[in-house]
Amino acid sequence: MPWQESYETGITSVDLQHRRLFDRIERVHTFAQKKEYSEKEREEIRDIMADLENYVAAHFTLEERLMQDNNYPQLEEHIREHEKFTEKINSLMSSLEGTLAGEDAKINEFLQDLSHFLENWLKGHILVKDFAYVPYIKSEH
Ligand SMILES: [Fe+2]
Repeated sequence: MPWQESYETGITSVDLQHRRLFDRIERVHTFAQKKEYSEKEREEIRDIMADLENYVAAHFTLEERLMQDNNYPQLEEHIREHEKFTEKINSLMSSLEGTLAGEDAKINEFLQDLSHFLENWLKGHILVKDFAYVPYIKSEH
């Protein structure tokens, strides 16, 4: 699912981060198409996951600050969605090392699960819930 101009919220800082998230999600998607994973690729998957976890946390912090500063009325609901996402990522992270040490098929299953989750989240959260706060953001600072 490549980035499209219609995904832009018009909020520069949010769009920059969303674009980078899309790039990371594309990488997960590419790895999920493979059937075998070399040692080097397993390392890369580990790096992508750590990077995704950190990047998403930073992105949620930015969004929540923007919504709070601009008195977005659905702030609490939006934060709950971020929490649900974080819980899912945490649970995937807790099984990551065991998965990477195991069979190719298990890694593929893990990546398929992650890839579907991320894609649904893009469609259901970024393109719906994030767009809902856009009209409320009068200032980015
Ligand atoms: Fe969000």
